[in-house]
Order: sequence, then structure tokens, then C-alpha cells
Amino acid sequence: MAIISVQKKASPGSHILVISNTWKNHIDYGFTKEEVGYLDGYFKDATKKQHSFNSSGRLISVLLPDTKKDIHLVLENCRKHGGVLADMINGIKGKDLNIYNSSKQVKYSYAVAEGAALANYQFIKYKSKAEDQKNTLLHINLIGSGYDSKTLNKLNIVVEATSKARNLVNEPVNHLNATDLANAFKQMGKQAGFTVEVYNKKKITELKMGGLLSVNAGSVDEPTFTVMEYKPRAKSKKPFVLVGKGVTYDTGGLSLKPTPNSMDMMKCDMAGAAAVGAAMYAIAKARLNVHVIALVPATDNRPGFNAFAPGDIITMMDGTTVEMVNSDAEGRMILADALHFAKRYKPELTIDIATLTGAALVAIGTTAMVGMGNAPKKYSDKIKQSGNNVFERVAEFPFWDDYADLMKSDIADQKNLGGGYAGAIQGGKFLEKYTDYPYYHLDIAGPAFIPAKDGYRPKGGTGTGVRLFFDFFNSI
Ligand code: BES
Ligand code: MN
Ligand code: ZN
Repeated sequence: MAIISVQKKASPGSHILVISNTWKNHIDYGFTKEEVGYLDGYFKDATKKQHSFNSSGRLISVLLPDTKKDIHLVLENCRKHGGVLADMINGIKGKDLNIYNSSKQVKYSYAVAEGAALANYQFIKYKSKAEDQKNTLLHINLIGSGYDSKTLNKLNIVVEATSKARNLVNEPVNHLNATDLANAFKQMGKQAGFTVEVYNKKKITELKMGGLLSVNAGSVDEPTFTVMEYKPRAKSKKPFVLVGKGVTYDTGGLSLKPTPNSMDMMKCDMAGAAAVGAAMYAIAKARLNVHVIALVPATDNRPGFNAFAPGDIITMMDGTTVEMVNSDAEGRMILADALHFAKRYKPELTIDIATLTGAALVAIGTTAMVGMGNAPKKYSDKIKQSGNNVFERVAEFPFWDDYADLMKSDIADQKNLGGGYAGAIQGGKFLEKYTDYPYYHLDIAGPAFIPAKDGYRPKGGTGTGVRLFFDFFNSI
């Protein structure tokens, strides 16, 4: 991992980025005459806003943030630029990136550093020669003054937490089943300072978590239900609850997903769980002054001998029944019990995050998540604001009650699938039935796991949700 820190000066000849409002060589960055002459020529064209080049083995980059644009886009461009620099430096086996900033806007530097650190992530633990392929970038140095150690510390924490979430998502199910996932949370709790309690199948059965048990019925691995809690010493207000979908692998169950392709990336179906666990890690490590509880129901979804069969009627933890018409709509079955469980905390707000529907992916693609809910406007606005701040944008869908009618069943209280259109909303409305508190639902089926690198987001698990949650709780 690359560490972001403040340094007085860069060592001579090191890789540097200059952030400035306009290009002029008003500070001596140790450029040669030739380099300055080249940049003078390049930026004569006022439409040019950024440039990076390799000057005899030394990376030189200039970024002129376009202040006329929306600030969220400007900062995202800074992150992307940082990502490009990290890739270039790793490409020439460099160790440091040094950032000079004469724009008077320290946030540009933070964003570049964040993008570079996030882009530096790798998942190569299963390569037998991992050492040889390891990225070399280790230090991201902010040169000069005006930086604040608290912000810096939080930045490093959130990057580390995002990497942890990515790692969990990238682990395949033969290395990470429900018990492994729960153990990973235990370890994260120890490291960061939050409590982690794991319920096993016996306890889950005692609690009558019928939704979770039904999905687990076709599996040879036991389910887990993890309760994480971070409570700061101060305040004793109502807690916030996070709920993450922890399907360690989704075959679709007896409603088997068609091959090829549709099952290929389904190790990512616990990305919601990874996001809430990693968010807890960051919140606790940064000692944020907010009481947060995170719940993760976890199991794989398999068509084993006892697998729940389409048509089955399942009694959920809250005592209501579900006509399970499609075993591939399994996420809502396990989340329903977790949302019911959350009632005991009388939450100020509960947010669930889940790779819930292909419909969300179809609707908005891989660069944003779908959001919806009945939470008061101050919270839904704040969630969307955080999404913009960290560029994990939330596209809000309607949450009208008539969508719930689609899931009416003739023989049970609800079906787990309405069929037809508006699949993402159906998922949200199904889940709302198990809540009695302000509720917001995030469907990350699009951005959780991406088929190709996209800027500072690596191919595979992206850690989507961690940075949004951290931003949300950091400013509550
Ligand atoms: N895990 C999938 C959703 C998913 C799709 C996640 C693509 C990531 C990428 C979910 O359990 C699922 O199978 N959803 C079904 C729901 C349907 C049966 C109501 C879907 O989207 O097709
Ligand atoms: Mn499914
Ligand atoms: Zn699923």
C-alpha cells in the first residue's frame, strides 16, 4: 500500500506533479531548462489542462484543474489523474510521487493522492511469483504546507479500508465461505476497534431466520450472521444500522443461472457485506463520533439436495410468509431477516447495500449505484451528497407503494419476485416490508465488480460503498 504523507521537499530528480491554476514556472520544481521550455510550449494552448511525460526516467506531470467545472467533476478528474500517475510510476518501477500545489486548494492534492493510492491496489496473492509483480509505488508525498494531519490520516484509512473490501470481493468462494467472511470481520474488528459477534447455524435457527436458512438449505457450508458494533464514548443517540448482502456465491440455486457468463462474476455477491465491514473498519479506526451497527447475513446460494425449491413457502424471522417463486432472488430473502433483526436497535436510519438486481446494472451501468428509500430527505440528500463527494454516485429511483403490489401472492404474504419491469425497485419494496424505521436501499449490482479497469478502479472488486459510507458518517 502507498502511504500519503506531508513532506518538506522532494528529493532531487524524483517524480513530480505540479498542480496549479495556470501554467507558469513561478516555483522552482527542479525542472531543467528544456523541460520548462517544452511545458511552456505545451500549455500555450489554453485548452490544455494536464500533461504527463517521462523525461529521461523521471516522471513530470502538470495538472491545471478546470475551476469552471462542477467541483465534484474537478475532484474526480484529480483522482483520475492520480491514477494515471500511479500507473506510470509503477510502469517505470518508481517509488515516490511528489505533489506540489500552488493553487491554494489543498483538496486537489488530497484527491490526486487518493486516486493514486486507490489505483495502486493489486490482488495478486494467488500468483506464485507475486513479489516480482508487486507495484513499486510506496510514498505519495504532499510537498509544502497547508495540509492537515487529521484529513491525511482519514484519507489513508479510507484507502486502506477500500482495499480490504476489494480483497474480500476478489476472494473466490473456495477461499471465502460464510464462515471465512465472518472470521475476516472478526479480524477487522480487532484491528480497528469494534465488536464483532458471529451467530452460527444453531443460533440462526433459534432466531428463526427463515429467509437466511432457506437460501442456505442447498449448501454444504453453514450460514453466518455477523453483528458488528462501533460505539464512541461520547454520544448516546439512536444508532445507525448498515446491512450488507453476504451471498458468498450466487449460482441462482435451483433457478440456476444460465451459463456461460451470468454466473462468472458471482463471487462478488457479498460486495455489500464487504462494503459494510470495511466501512466499520474505517469508522472505528478514524474514531468517528457516531454509533454504527453493521449486520451481515451470509451464505452461498446453491442447488444442493435440500435446496429451497421454487414454489416453497418460507416463514421469515418476522413471522410473515414468502412464496419463493425464484431461488435466484435470494438476496432479499437473507436481507429481509437482517432488516427485521435491525428493529431491536430502534435505528435513526438503516441503510442496506447489496448486489441485488441485474436490473440496476442494466439501468445505470457500472459507474453509479441505484438508491431508493423512505428515509427523511435530510438523510437521502446526505447519502446522495456523499455519493457525489467521493464519486460513488447514487441514482435515486422512485419508491412508490404501488410497486409493492407486484409482489402480492395468492397463497402467502408476499412473493419474492414480481416479474416484469422495474426489478430494482421491486427488490427495494420487498425489503421495505421488513422495516419499521427510516430506510434507504443501495443496489450496487452495477459498480461492485467491473470487467475491466476503469481509472483508479481496478478490474474486479471495486470496494464501492466504503468511501460513500465513510464520507456520510464523517460529516454527520
Ligand atoms: N446477485 C444477483 C444480482 C446481480 C446481477 C449482481 C448482476 C451483480 C451482477 C441477484 O441475486 C440476482 O440473481 N438477481 C436476479 C433477480 C431476479 C431473479 C428477480 C436478477 O437480477 O436477474
Ligand atoms: Mn441471485
Ligand atoms: Zn445474488
